[in-house]
Amino acid sequence: MNPEIRIQQLRDQINEHNYRYYVLDDPTLPDIEYDRLFIELRELEAAHPEWVSDDSPTQRVGAKPDSGFAEVRHEMPMLSLDNAFADQDLTDFIRRVHERLKRPAAEVIQFSCEPKLDGIAISIFYEQGRLTRALTRGDGYTGEDITLNVRTVRNVPVRLRGDDWPERLEIRGEIYMPRAGFEKLNERAREKDEKTFVNPRNAAAGSLRQLDPAITASRPLELCAYSTGIVEGGTLPDSHYETLKLLQQWGLRINPEMRLVDGLEGCLAYYEQLANKRDGLGYDIDGIVYKVDDKRLQETLGYVARAPRWAIARKFPAQEEITRLNAVEFQVGRTGAITPVARLEPVFVGGVTVSNATLHNMDEIARLDIREGDQVIVHRAGDVIPKVVRVLTEKRTGDEKPIQVPSHCPVCGSDVERTQLQRHGKGKVHSSEGSIYRCVGRLVCSAQLKQAILHFVSRRALDIEGLGEKNVDQLVERKLVRSPADLFSLTVEDFLQLDGFAQLSSENLYNAIQARKQTTLARFIFALGIPEVGEETARTLATSLGSLQRIRTALPELLTWLPDIGNEVAFSIAHFMQDEHNRQILDSMIEQGMVFDDEGGLSPALVGQISFAQLLIKMSIPGVAQTGAENLANYFTTLEALLEADAARLSQIPRFSAKARAGLLECLADKEWCRLIGALEQQLSDFGMHWECQAEVAVTEQPLSGQTWVLTGTLESMTRDEAKDRLVALGAKVSGSVSKNTDCVVAGPGAGSKLSKAEQLGVRVMDEAGLLAFLQEKS
Ligand code: IVH
Repeated sequence: MNPEIRIQQLRDQINEHNYRYYVLDDPTLPDIEYDRLFIELRELEAAHPEWVSDDSPTQRVGAKPDSGFAEVRHEMPMLSLDNAFADQDLTDFIRRVHERLKRPAAEVIQFSCEPKLDGIAISIFYEQGRLTRALTRGDGYTGEDITLNVRTVRNVPVRLRGDDWPERLEIRGEIYMPRAGFEKLNERAREKDEKTFVNPRNAAAGSLRQLDPAITASRPLELCAYSTGIVEGGTLPDSHYETLKLLQQWGLRINPEMRLVDGLEGCLAYYEQLANKRDGLGYDIDGIVYKVDDKRLQETLGYVARAPRWAIARKFPAQEEITRLNAVEFQVGRTGAITPVARLEPVFVGGVTVSNATLHNMDEIARLDIREGDQVIVHRAGDVIPKVVRVLTEKRTGDEKPIQVPSHCPVCGSDVERTQLQRHGKGKVHSSEGSIYRCVGRLVCSAQLKQAILHFVSRRALDIEGLGEKNVDQLVERKLVRSPADLFSLTVEDFLQLDGFAQLSSENLYNAIQARKQTTLARFIFALGIPEVGEETARTLATSLGSLQRIRTALPELLTWLPDIGNEVAFSIAHFMQDEHNRQILDSMIEQGMVFDDEGGLSPALVGQISFAQLLIKMSIPGVAQTGAENLANYFTTLEALLEADAARLSQIPRFSAKARAGLLECLADKEWCRLIGALEQQLSDFGMHWECQAEVAVTEQPLSGQTWVLTGTLESMTRDEAKDRLVALGAKVSGSVSKNTDCVVAGPGAGSKLSKAEQLGVRVMDEAGLLAFLQEKS
């Protein structure tokens, strides 16, 4: 094909795709196809520079301008809007519209309702359908020429679609950064230790003010058009709403939430509806703009000062406010982590009064450079915990006080230590300072004890009902309980002493606790609250090792052979189990009659599975990788023989390098290394994971081993959690999403996309009755 024709074809296809993608939200071409077209066009243009034109989709990013941005006067000023903060303000606005237009209150006037985007206002000129100039709003009368930067915004058409547009047309709209893009941008900045943006609006403003358009091009910006300015050589509809629909046909994105409504009632209903949607929109909005839809009425109404009489901005409650940081207090978590909490001068933000905000950890305090007495910006959106996002350092008076980590626990007075981050490698542990500080008091610290108990009895752990925060507080404060083990020795009389307990309630709680002496190993391990061990890891430990005794004694190196258990977690488990105090607690629980339904053999997947070579690899011998370890294992066959070898013997091993030999000799000379490998081999053998071991441990294959199930919709006879537990007990993995690897989907009423996906993929689907019958049959 003639390259000139092909170039035009490619440009048309790419533009069409951009339009469907950015304007209609309805892409039809897969990304990979799009990339192919783009590459082909770029290559053709490189071969034929004479056919490159500046409206080609490849030409968005131009060269850096020599100087800053030129100031340009707006041909038609860009005005601002009056604000309405309450329903009453909106009612008054609409009444005034009726009065000025001399229309009876009963007559219905139509309003266009649009989200008020929180970005940067922009004016873009199209002449003969081509983008010729883009200006910022500036002070409304004069803006800055940022044409080169605006051209790089992906959904700003460089050329309008169709051919029925006015010869000169000024588009007005907002350039903003969607939240997802904003988060990603900040994430990248954090990784590179660069400054982050406080919010998407600042990020959009900063991105548009870059002197290098290539930087702007790399930022996830979008344009949304909301009105027109200068119109010459053509006409637009009388309706504002219809005008925007026309802009959409010409290739400009308009807001999909825009609606045409009738009168005050329609406006109020729109407010309710959009306020509810606000947090899920994907971009920040700070209110709603209501506009009289009929432009002839707009003209009659005219302007007052710098704002139109035909439009108003109804503001949502602000999600960011300035307030004073009165103090920073430190709270103690379940594992002793000390977290700073900001105590703020109460401020109304995001629809509620906020007086506390999270500060995460000391690194965050250092990053914000926050001090007591500072003026700070607090952010609260949706149900998210309020957060201090920035300190107004320019408002400092000099009286602000730096924040120090307490040297002693604010609850129990024990020492506070900075956690060390440990990296395990080459048989050694490297540590560096972490950002978390911990109270070393553990269960002596009543804050940690209370939370440890609340976790121990929680629903996904031992599931003891009737032990809420109030009762646990009392048990701890009256020193009836000093560790979770003490719960089992509490008597009915003990409960009778507590506020709010009578004979019957005391007996009920007593029975509830005693009943839970029988539970599953997985729940019990989770209940212990071992740092880094969640439900999933607890289940892995229980099903892999099969007994509390094995879990208690397992060497960390052995634990790392279990599925999904890494060094960090393995060492945390071993550390917990070796601790004298924890050992006493566990012993005490066993003595009091704790038993586990699911104790049994080692998982069949582990029986006899660890080869000698793998043991050697785990021991990180310098210079010995996989092949070296296999050679060694073939040559010696037993660990004993290896441990006795000397340099002369090692030199006889085929295909074993001098470097590897030196590394091994160094290890053999290290008593600690020899002790550890010996202990590890012994334990592998004791547990039945040893390479020579003939499967002697009783093994029962579970009916759903290796299967993945998905639960969706509601169930009537049990909760989803219960159904999940029962499936897991049969060996299944229960996942949250359907894929081709799913074995079965249990769908109750209300099942949606997961069910349709299962049907699409041909995955087996079961209803509740089917599940019940299945569980009955299998258990
Ligand atoms: S119409 C004559 N519509 O709000 C005024 N403005 O205070 C025409 N804004 O800086 C403005 N979304 O950037 C209009 N859907 C929308 C808007 C919107 C955001 C911004 C605009 C301007 C400010 C007006």
